[in-house]
Amino acid sequence: MKTRFKSGNLTEERRAFLKQSGAMAAMSAFGLSFFTACTKDVAEPDMPDEDENMEEPDVEAITVTDNAVTIQLDLVEALGSSGGWILIQDANLLVVNVGGTYSALTSVCTHQGCASSWEYDNEVFTCTCHDSKFSTAGEVLQGPAVQPLTVFNTTLANGVLTVSI
Ligand code: FES
Repeated sequence: MKTRFKSGNLTEERRAFLKQSGAMAAMSAFGLSFFTACTKDVAEPDMPDEDENMEEPDVEAITVTDNAVTIQLDLVEALGSSGGWILIQDANLLVVNVGGTYSALTSVCTHQGCASSWEYDNEVFTCTCHDSKFSTAGEVLQGPAVQPLTVFNTTLANGVLTVSI
């Protein structure tokens, strides 16, 4: 079964499509929040269907097991540069490239448990359910959340990022 995930980087092809559809203006206003339900409602007329944001890489690109997630970095373009990030919904996991190193955090917000409404900008994750903000180390930067996000250990070897969950 393929692992579905959302990514925070846009391909040139997709940028062209969004520009053509007029959605780029909305994206500029809301960052990458088109992944989230709340802002998706705002921009619904020009937004592509949410499923179009879902990438389905080759089966080997991301593997989720009970205790680990392995990511073939050369197959996940979104993580190839600093600032790129993905949400692996099958594992409730956020993975981000911060200056060439990788952080992996739970995507289950410690406020009220939203797991898939995330934005990322300037090394800050925002849970758009109620606007809590977290650092890439999981620390709360802004409430209402008070507890940090769990951070998972990562190891990188031969182009494979392994997250112990
Ligand atoms: S559930 Fe994330 S801020 Fe409320």
